[in-house]
Amino acid sequence: MPRLKPREAASLPAKLPKILAFTNQKGGAGKSTGAVHAADWFTQKGYSTLLVDADGQQSSSNWLKELGLPCKVISDPEELFDELPKLSDHYDIVIIDGPGNASEVTKAVLIRSNLVLIPCRDSMIDLASTGKIVQFVRQAREIRGGLPSAAVYLNAVKDNTILLREAQEALQGGVLPLLNTVLPDRQCIKDAPGQGSTVFRMKGSSPKSAANAYTKLLIEALKLFESES
Ligand SMILES: Nc1ncnc2c1ncn2[C@@H]1O[C@H](COP(=O)(O)OP(=O)(O)OP(=O)(O)O)[C@@H](O)[C@H]1O
Ligand SMILES: [Mg+2]
Repeated sequence: MPRLKPREAASLPAKLPKILAFTNQKGGAGKSTGAVHAADWFTQKGYSTLLVDADGQQSSSNWLKELGLPCKVISDPEELFDELPKLSDHYDIVIIDGPGNASEVTKAVLIRSNLVLIPCRDSMIDLASTGKIVQFVRQAREIRGGLPSAAVYLNAVKDNTILLREAQEALQGGVLPLLNTVLPDRQCIKDAPGQGSTVFRMKGSSPKSAANAYTKLLIEALKLFESES
């Protein structure tokens, strides 16, 4: 059970997704960065959290080891399908770091997740490529009668670019909701894996503002999940 102080508990939605995935078949979108930061955030909030590294490259599992957080590597689609429900019985939340391709692994992840977050960079190439993952989510929803909840968020956005407005307009008319919170492009986020850290643990004003952006993003995503379930 989570060890939350009353004030912290009051600021969080009551319902958590048991399985939260970061997916996008586009490489370099920010899945591993998002998944590891989410794992550290939920752990710091007092929830027992497991990260499942479903990417054959295992970038997040090495990072998790340095953070001292539990992690399991499963990159076989059948094993993911079978193991995810069992693992979620033992943790408050299981977070999945998805692979950067449109594979059977991504499909297994979508079939087993309660909430799917899709990081997307604000270039037109990246925006155009979200069509594939949106199609996967739509197909999973047809099979599962509406689940999983899913949303896109813009990641690594440079401050006040015209592209950001264009990106928001391009995604706003899409099938999946676009979260209002935008994650900025910050050197401290890039530096975090090399330092075996996250912006929640790093000192200074830049990590602090990046940490605030992650917190805002996760709370917005949890509220969306709560409203849809
Ligand atoms: N908000 C951000 N600000 C600055 N750098 C970022 C941000 N998000 C991600 N990055 C950097 O972008 C690169 C790609 O991010 P990440 O590895 O999380 O993407 P990914 O979607 O997991 O990629 P892959 O598909 O290869 O697994 C990394 O070098 C990471 O540090
Ligand atoms: Mg990755």
